[in-house]
Amino acid sequence: KKAHRFYNEPLLDFAVPSVRANMTKALAEVKATFPIQVPLMINNKEVRSEKIFDRVNPSNESQVVGEIHMANIDQAEQAMQAAQTAYKTWKNVSAEKRAELVDKLADIMTRDRYKLIATQVFEVGKPWNEADGDIGEAIDFCRYYARHMRELQKPLRAGFTPGEVSQYIYKSRGVTAVIAPWNFPLAILAGMVTAAAVTGNTVVMKPAEQSSVVAWGLMKMIQEAGFPAGVINFLPGFGEEVGEYIVNHKFTTTIAFTGSKAVGLHILNRASYVQPGQSHVKRCIIEMGGKNAVIIDNDADLDEAVDGVLYSAFGFSGQKCSAASRVIVLDEVYDRFVDRLVEAAKSIDILPADNPKAYMGPVVDKEAYDRILGMIADAEKSHKLLFKASVPAGGFFAPPTIFGDVPGDSKLAQQEVFGPVVAVIRAKNLDQALEIANSTEYALTGGLFSRSPANIARVKNEFEVGNLYVNRGITGAMVDRHPFGGYKMSGVGSKTGGPDYLKQYMEPVAVTENT
Ligand code: NAD
Ligand code: ALA
Repeated sequence: KKAHRFYNEPLLDFAVPSVRANMTKALAEVKATFPIQVPLMINNKEVRSEKIFDRVNPSNESQVVGEIHMANIDQAEQAMQAAQTAYKTWKNVSAEKRAELVDKLADIMTRDRYKLIATQVFEVGKPWNEADGDIGEAIDFCRYYARHMRELQKPLRAGFTPGEVSQYIYKSRGVTAVIAPWNFPLAILAGMVTAAAVTGNTVVMKPAEQSSVVAWGLMKMIQEAGFPAGVINFLPGFGEEVGEYIVNHKFTTTIAFTGSKAVGLHILNRASYVQPGQSHVKRCIIEMGGKNAVIIDNDADLDEAVDGVLYSAFGFSGQKCSAASRVIVLDEVYDRFVDRLVEAAKSIDILPADNPKAYMGPVVDKEAYDRILGMIADAEKSHKLLFKASVPAGGFFAPPTIFGDVPGDSKLAQQEVFGPVVAVIRAKNLDQALEIANSTEYALTGGLFSRSPANIARVKNEFEVGNLYVNRGITGAMVDRHPFGGYKMSGVGSKTGGPDYLKQYMEPVAVTENT
């Protein structure tokens, strides 16, 4: 019997008046609840802290979106204890029941979609369509992982020797520490949490400081879906404090982390220390940054290339690990491509994220704004500035910026900016383009615009990236269709939204019985 295909959740079309009206209404309703209180959740009980972090709207510095209760070490310990205790029963709950709960969570996200979009528009400054994409991806992760767990629970027969039945089965591991970034505030967090829980593990989730309101929304939906107490615990707090604590903890068996290279490598290092009383080697699933390049071949369709590069570089202000930050253009088309890219960049609307016309909103906070502006100022000293937009006041609006004729080995072409800054690099031929493309320590996403089958085949073979996109933009991976993740210094672990992802949260066991 043929299995049903997996279908991605369709995205909303804000050009439809009723959809736009729903969104406007949700924005007003969510805004009326500011500042949203964000407590911890341990054993399905709300817990408060004395340390409050005010999260402001990056489009409007004077608006406090949430008051986040930042966990202390005692509370982190309570969350670990709760997860450890809950594991004793959760590991025996059937895979079907766990998958049902994750599917229920997806249904709740679908029901609350507009509210969820509105929350991230205000908290992290995502324009409407970007925020909608994040909710769609979160729903897809839930449905995909629930569906895949139903498959993985079936024992595999190993070998066919008469008199022996050998089975290959997957078992859960124990407490999982989930540590997430803010840039896909619902999808990445929900993806790691549901993967851990559906595979029979319990979870302590530590959201990014900048997106704890969105993460609190996830926690409440998890509770409504009916997960038993202690299975998923919510620990907002500072990474260096409670993040570090749960990484080091003796109960932690698996660490699922997505974020920067510096923190990812630090976690790998810490996880290798064995604590007194620790019973597992900690497994680390670590997704880190990128310095992603798009190659523009001599025969590329320049209309498509400009459009693809523009959105990949400036969508959500370049704050995606997948964002295009290097464009390597073959000499013959360099001038034509660059002229058109700059003209297109001039048309970008930079507005507060709650404005439906915003192509680009702010960057996430003052720290990011200062860092990006510093990198632009530094680059202006040594590189040719081709374009820098003017930006609105009142929020953390970093200008979309394009530099030209950037050497491939310069700091600007090697370091992740995580902001709306593009280095255009000239290459004399495809050999040199590939050499430059592969010259960074990262291998996350990459793109090629070309009409030549031979060049496409060559780039497929030689470009060192986890996700290669040909004749399209390089962001916006869809669950199932584009399993996502990198290698080299971009991470270790298999792809999210792909067939190997859940297996990392489990232990394969071979059971052999003489019959
Ligand atoms: P970050 O590394 O600063 O923070 C990520 C998380 O780690 C946060 O929850 C933070 O509190 C926590 N943390 C910080 N110090 C810690 C410590 N010592 N111990 C434990 N936890 C700690 O990253 P960010 O600014 O939130 O996100 C941006 C980065 O994430 C970029 O580099 C981007 O490329 C990367 N990213 C990668 C992917 C991917 O799939 N590869 C996806 C999204 C973002
Ligand atoms: N999965 C995200 C994208 O592809 C990071 O853009």
